[in-house]
Amino acid sequence: MRDYILLILTVFSVFGTIVASGGSPGCGKPLPNNESPGKFTDVPLFVTSDNVPRSYIINIPSGYNPNKPAPLIFSFHGRGETAYSQLRLSAFYNETWNPDAISVYPQGLKGSEGEAQWEGDPNSVGVNDVGFVLDMIKSFSENYCIDTDRIFASGKSNGGGFTGYLACDETASKQIAAFAPVSGAFYQPLNKNGTCDAAHTPIACNPAPRKIPIIEFHGDADDTISYDGGKRRGECLPTIPHWVREWSKRDGYGPKSYLSSSFDSHVLKYEYGNLDSSLGIVTHYLIRGLGHDWPSTQPNSDNANGTYIDATPIILDFFSKWPLH
Ligand SMILES: *[C@@H]1O[C@H](CO)[C@@H](O)[C@H](O)[C@H]1NC(C)=O
Ligand SMILES: *[C@@H]1O[C@H](CO)[C@@H](O)[C@H](O)[C@H]1NC(C)=O
Ligand SMILES: *[C@@H]1O[C@H](CO)[C@@H](O)[C@H](O)[C@H]1NC(C)=O
Repeated sequence: MRDYILLILTVFSVFGTIVASGGSPGCGKPLPNNESPGKFTDVPLFVTSDNVPRSYIINIPSGYNPNKPAPLIFSFHGRGETAYSQLRLSAFYNETWNPDAISVYPQGLKGSEGEAQWEGDPNSVGVNDVGFVLDMIKSFSENYCIDTDRIFASGKSNGGGFTGYLACDETASKQIAAFAPVSGAFYQPLNKNGTCDAAHTPIACNPAPRKIPIIEFHGDADDTISYDGGKRRGECLPTIPHWVREWSKRDGYGPKSYLSSSFDSHVLKYEYGNLDSSLGIVTHYLIRGLGHDWPSTQPNSDNANGTYIDATPIILDFFSKWPLH
């Protein structure tokens, strides 16, 4: 009898795998109330599995088809910012660039300093933002037709730091295929004697055992989260090259990168990996003269003049190259 039940379970789980490879359990379901293709919706209440009320904005692309699995992109705001400001800034809803992925802009909770923020920030104590993200992935997979091989995370500043934090989380990095922090704040503890060795600080990271694709953008005139790292708000920011190189090493490649430059060497692209299809699995863009900004050729809320490149379509292109399977 027990063998019989086991056999049934096995048959079911094989079936489950076959169905899941085409899309999530939400495939075939109508969109939730108030949501429609080509529109974003503010969802003011999402209760997490640990019973915390959270919120987010979700954008459904106009070509959404409940029978065709769509990629899912999370975009996390910086400290003190909002889901809506991040929607405007990262513009993953823009169908010129992203015709098919659902994009979600979650709202961080306010910490004791009164600023909305994400786990990984020195001031985010006792908040389970990773759990919030895992709960959203589960809920979205059940309610929308999601391509579970194409779930991605991006974010700016503290939201970029949180993107890196998710990449370092064993469970999240099994479900999220690739990560794109912009002007990321990757806080680490100080040395025991209170110093910060930005170029060598150990980086706490426990990702799933797979090669994790990461793309990072940073300006060398960033005076909030310095490219060269250092002590900040009682913690230690690594230099950006150190943080990026550690990812290449963790992914099984060395510290060596391949450099290409454009815009008269104002934009430097460092690609890690081997000279084969792995090249660029860790990619870093250094933008000379850029401040603490989301790179955009058009003026945005970070930079009234715009810069040489648009990060968003580069991130989308990167995501399209690195699905989970
Ligand atoms: C999308 O991006 C393109 C290219 O920058 C721009 O021309 C267009 O105005 C944007 N559309 C929206 C809806 O923001
Ligand atoms: C502080 O500790 C670090 C590592 O533990 C060490 O490399 C450094 O020399 C120490 N600095 C001082 C000023 O003691
Ligand atoms: C934009 O350009 C103006 C004129 O060159 C300059 O004064 C200003 O500092 C620039 N702003 C930023 C954010 O780079």
